[in-house]
Amino acid sequence: MTRARRSSEWYGGSDRNAYLHRAWMRRGLPAHAFDGRAHIAIANTASDLTPCNSHLNEVAESVKQGVYEAGGIPVNLPVVSLGETLVRPTAMLWRNMAAMAIEEMLRANPIDGVILLGGCDKTIPALLMGAASVDLPAVLIPGGPMLNGTFRGQVLGCGTDVWRLSEEVRAGTLPEDTFNSSESSMIRSRGHCNTMGTASTMALLAEALGMTIPGLAGTPAPDSRLLEASHESGRLAVELVETKRSIGQVISAASFHNAIVALAAIGGSTNAVVHLLALAGRLGIELTLDDFDRIGEGVPLLVNLQPAGKYLMEDLFRAGGLLTVLSQVKDLLDPNGMTVTGRPLVDYLDDKPIWDLDVISERATPLQDDAGIAVLRGNLAPLGAIVKPAAASPELMIHRGRAVVFDSIEDLHARIDDPDLDVDADSVLVLRGCGPRGYPGMPEVANLPLPSKLLQQGVRDMVRVCDGRMSGTAYGTVVLHVAPEAAAGGLLALVQNGDYIILDVPARKLELDVAAEILETRRISAATQDAFAAPSRGWERLYVDHVMQADTGVDLDFLAGGSGPTVSRESH
Ligand code: FES
Repeated sequence: MTRARRSSEWYGGSDRNAYLHRAWMRRGLPAHAFDGRAHIAIANTASDLTPCNSHLNEVAESVKQGVYEAGGIPVNLPVVSLGETLVRPTAMLWRNMAAMAIEEMLRANPIDGVILLGGCDKTIPALLMGAASVDLPAVLIPGGPMLNGTFRGQVLGCGTDVWRLSEEVRAGTLPEDTFNSSESSMIRSRGHCNTMGTASTMALLAEALGMTIPGLAGTPAPDSRLLEASHESGRLAVELVETKRSIGQVISAASFHNAIVALAAIGGSTNAVVHLLALAGRLGIELTLDDFDRIGEGVPLLVNLQPAGKYLMEDLFRAGGLLTVLSQVKDLLDPNGMTVTGRPLVDYLDDKPIWDLDVISERATPLQDDAGIAVLRGNLAPLGAIVKPAAASPELMIHRGRAVVFDSIEDLHARIDDPDLDVDADSVLVLRGCGPRGYPGMPEVANLPLPSKLLQQGVRDMVRVCDGRMSGTAYGTVVLHVAPEAAAGGLLALVQNGDYIILDVPARKLELDVAAEILETRRISAATQDAFAAPSRGWERLYVDHVMQADTGVDLDFLAGGSGPTVSRESH
């Protein structure tokens, strides 16, 4: 074989550099590995400290078999991994770092295509963002959700039930030892969170974007079909190299349209908004916050999964999975959205029966008529804020209440359960200092806990407003991603206890009901106080200097777009 490959720029020829590149790789690779075969990197986020992804080494073995079978050469490429529950101060601080490292290592190495192995929340977005900026042929394999947890005969959804049970402890309705004894029952198997949290959402949206073999996303991690599809993905990666079909040729504006429809129909995580915006930015595709409201409007909620509903990802898979859901809203999809197979997504949506109507609803009988994400604007969020009506209380969709303000997550923890806190069920809880720049890293704290004295009175939801994000496994009437954030000059910084805040979701409005001249005096006095203290060194320093706001996906300004796969200089 004498095919011209990107990898042949390293391995081809007979000069000293080609010798160096081949010789060091000849530890197990035969001479014919360098005859122009496609070299496929397996960008693997397996890590013991990312327990949701710890099984991906086994997945990688199946990928390798597929690559070999198709005549390619698989090469392991361990990449930065992010364990959502462990990484401090928040995994989101490191998403862009992981994406940057993945991008640079894909570009720097002699590979022709890449298989992306992810699972836990930030890993799939980081893999897609990094790969998009290099624009090589790429296929994604989501590691899949864990099996359903059960405790005392009841199904436990990871994440969602932690929030629910911990609130019950604070309300005094669940003993702490019972809470703690549920711990070992929640995580039953390998795989990522089994609720419709961020990991499940991003895996399903990767499929809607066209980046997985259709029908793969949502396959539970222990299911043998995951390994079968991984083998097939390995074969497909070699085919993509042969046909020169790169990620930029698969994902288009139509793909994002389909992902937004899918996001609404599955009742997916609000975190998908920042991840999709950032990915679009890498690909140079124009996508705005308002597109989520416009495209998502009128898309019915069809999936009955926690946190908004009852079931878990294992149930969604047995009921038919994403393709069955999308077949119900096929007319809302853009038929131009492609997949890695070279065929449009809509080609895969015929003859998709629903096997459990309690898990996936028919279009005619949706769980909700309109499940899109609402984008709010007003003086409190001129660049936008979002709310997920599917996870909120209908009676709070139009609300005017007095602000109770917390300046940081530490301030919140110190005072939220103070019996003297001046708060009632109609108050609006405001948490600031949690944006991309202010925290830094935009943590998942927007679903701030309710004051225990109100929990004890039976209150289970209140309007909350925050410049941070919310866990995809959380629920409640939470206005989040407020932009600009308090630390970037947003009006959120000027809210005082007792100010009235107006939320009007049908009118898409979020207003601080304080006269402009009063706000101006507050702005002047705020300017005389201590300015935002930026970190002095390291990634955090780079991050706060360059991170963009939530309305553009919280990427770093200099990482938008891509540099392609070419590296012109040699190392020797
Ligand atoms: Fe990894 Fe939830 S902690 S997906």
